[in-house]
Amino acid sequence: MSIKIEKTLTPKQKPNQNELGFGEYFTDHMFIMDYTEGKGWHDARIIPYAPLMIDPATMVLHYGQAVFEGLKAYQAEDGRVLLFRPHQNMERINISNDRLCIPSVDIDFTVEALRAIVREDQDWIPKAEGTSLYLRPFIIATDPYLGVRPSNTYQFIIIMSPVGAYYPEGINPVKIYVESKYVRAVLGGLGFTKTPGNYAASLKAQVEAKDKGYTQVLWLDGVEKKYIEEVGTMNVFFVIDDEVITPSLEGSILAGITRDSTIALLKDWGVKVTERRISIQELYDAHARGSLKEAFGTGTAAVISPIGELNWDGNQILINDGNIGDLSARIYDTITGVQNGSLKDQFGWTVEV
Ligand code: COI
Repeated sequence: MSIKIEKTLTPKQKPNQNELGFGEYFTDHMFIMDYTEGKGWHDARIIPYAPLMIDPATMVLHYGQAVFEGLKAYQAEDGRVLLFRPHQNMERINISNDRLCIPSVDIDFTVEALRAIVREDQDWIPKAEGTSLYLRPFIIATDPYLGVRPSNTYQFIIIMSPVGAYYPEGINPVKIYVESKYVRAVLGGLGFTKTPGNYAASLKAQVEAKDKGYTQVLWLDGVEKKYIEEVGTMNVFFVIDDEVITPSLEGSILAGITRDSTIALLKDWGVKVTERRISIQELYDAHARGSLKEAFGTGTAAVISPIGELNWDGNQILINDGNIGDLSARIYDTITGVQNGSLKDQFGWTVEV
């Protein structure tokens, strides 16, 4: 399938690179392709960024049949434009698609679409320290119909936003509230998918945690509220003595691409890294005996975000005195260095646009 291109006649003014925030500005173009039952994906096109015209009965608005992804583009010093592991995102969107009864997409073609839209709006990639162009591919169910069933038509859309740090703290440690009232996901549910409902389910806890002065919540398992899951925008890692532990992928948390990259780097450096169930009590016990050295989150938007404080049922612990740890800093420097082309890409993670 070829991609038709219609260029904008009214390019927008670009925002100040030092005041981007996250997801506030959008580039000049977007990519769209349609799916029709019996015809498959068709009509791939890049068009000027504009509001969608949709029927108020459009199924996604009522039943949330949708999936999304997030990845970033960087401009290297030598002029190359790089995407970080885009095939992984498109493989994961198909995993989400399968669970949400959405037809799968062709991985190579959608990576081509990502490259094509970045090429179109390449001059939107910010260059200031800690900035990038965030790509948001997503798929929505578009049948205008109020019965509950999978849609017969869909749109796959890519929009792009020049962004700075996801958390206002930047690379400084965040304060996280351990959530013991609400749950995010249970086994058999949608926890491993990137679907809007998971994020809607997280809002109430997030608002209550914010009111208490915390940036985000750490989710515990949905059955016993005992085992650590994820932060919702990040997977989590804990450095206990000389071992790095991260919750295993049991089906209720997202298989993060930054998580996977972090594990690969740690193994390459000879650091012991273990994927297993870890309870919040075990973490607090490790802290009590002085063994919890560092904690950090990993995610595309957040990159590496050190965790400086946890609050579990009123018990507050300070991790690494609230400072960024050596290992967190090393992982951050290495991943961002590979992403922006300033470090050698020994794993073949970057794809040139
Ligand atoms: C990402 O890290 O790309 C995410 O999707 C997290 C969040 C912004 C929803």
